[in-house]
Amino acid sequence: MNKDLVPIQADRPAIITTQIDAISYYRKMDTKATVEEMVGGKYVIVEEYYSNGLEVLSELKRNLLRKFTDKSFQGQRDYRSAFREASHRLLLKVKDNKLLVKKSPDIGWLALLYPEISEFYVSFPEVQGMNSSWQWYQKGIEVKTLDITLHPFYGTYFPTRFDHLKLFDKWLKKYEGSKHQAIEIGVGSGILSFQLIQNGFENIFATDTNKNAIIGVAQEIKRLGYENKIILNHGDLFENCDVKADVIVFNPPWLLAKHKLEEGIDKAIYYEEDLFPRFFTQAQQHLTPNGKIVLIFSNLAQVVDEESPHPIIEELRNNNRFRKELHLRREVRASSKKTQRTDSRENEKVELWVLGLK
Ligand SMILES: C[S@@+](CC[C@H](N)C(=O)[O-])C[C@H]1O[C@@H](n2cnc3c(N)ncnc32)[C@H](O)[C@@H]1O
Repeated sequence: MNKDLVPIQADRPAIITTQIDAISYYRKMDTKATVEEMVGGKYVIVEEYYSNGLEVLSELKRNLLRKFTDKSFQGQRDYRSAFREASHRLLLKVKDNKLLVKKSPDIGWLALLYPEISEFYVSFPEVQGMNSSWQWYQKGIEVKTLDITLHPFYGTYFPTRFDHLKLFDKWLKKYEGSKHQAIEIGVGSGILSFQLIQNGFENIFATDTNKNAIIGVAQEIKRLGYENKIILNHGDLFENCDVKADVIVFNPPWLLAKHKLEEGIDKAIYYEEDLFPRFFTQAQQHLTPNGKIVLIFSNLAQVVDEESPHPIIEELRNNNRFRKELHLRREVRASSKKTQRTDSRENEKVELWVLGLK
């Protein structure tokens, strides 16, 4: 961790610590009536069994589908937003870092993210999110071809398909320039920085706007024994970075946002219009004369909408600061061999761009 920075607090789901006016939901109660109240603005506390909460959520889905019949894009969006709002009023009680209801999952995040709070309520969907994240964190994600297992921290982006990592690996194996210093923007679960180290890079400055990514990678570099190789930083793009690099790598978000971005995973998937212009301006200041910018990207935005801009092509076309040295593409394989691709992602390709200073 960057020694000058104060320790950072993980982002965690919102909780309620005060007394609340709520309905207690037990099995065999009138689920329909309970859900009507919840849709109307009332909190509902799941009692006895965890599965009672699942029952309420199923009924909520049925209830809202009866009301939101418009199948258009906007109609579906409205339905999802109503579901999200109402489902967050379904609460579970946590005591001594454990869920109180029976037959509930054991979620380590409750102790790790709320060490100082002994009793609180948290929404059922947030618990489901924490549970799934905890499974990934505990079990790990094995990136087979690279011989790495990642343990992504709560609220951090992690790869589920590995085509772009293979592309980066292919480039790293051929790279013959200096390996003294690299910078990774948007370190996420740490995978690209770990690949840099495995391929002989000596010093890495790795940064992310997501606090949890930095906390998670700090743990990972201890586990992997990479503490002397990586300086971690929480910040926007090259903020606090006073080194120049032989290689700057960035696997940015791939889709232009049409909504106001939230902190966390949202910023791993969507980018604001000024992200790439700001990145290129700052990258120019942080490259050694022979340095390379390596960007991992995808044609996903163009597959969905042909008119969609491609920020790297736009940079090369509009500004006279970088030249394209390499552009590799690789088809994205379906996550399972059994999955027949008939969706629009059939034509999806991941891209690796290498740019040098002009
Ligand atoms: C697609 S993820 C890539 C994560 C990881 N490098 C990988 O390849 O799996 C993009 C990452 O960039 C981070 N990010 C987005 N905007 C950023 C910014 N302005 N400055 C630093 N990091 C940013 C996100 O939080 C996210 O962790």
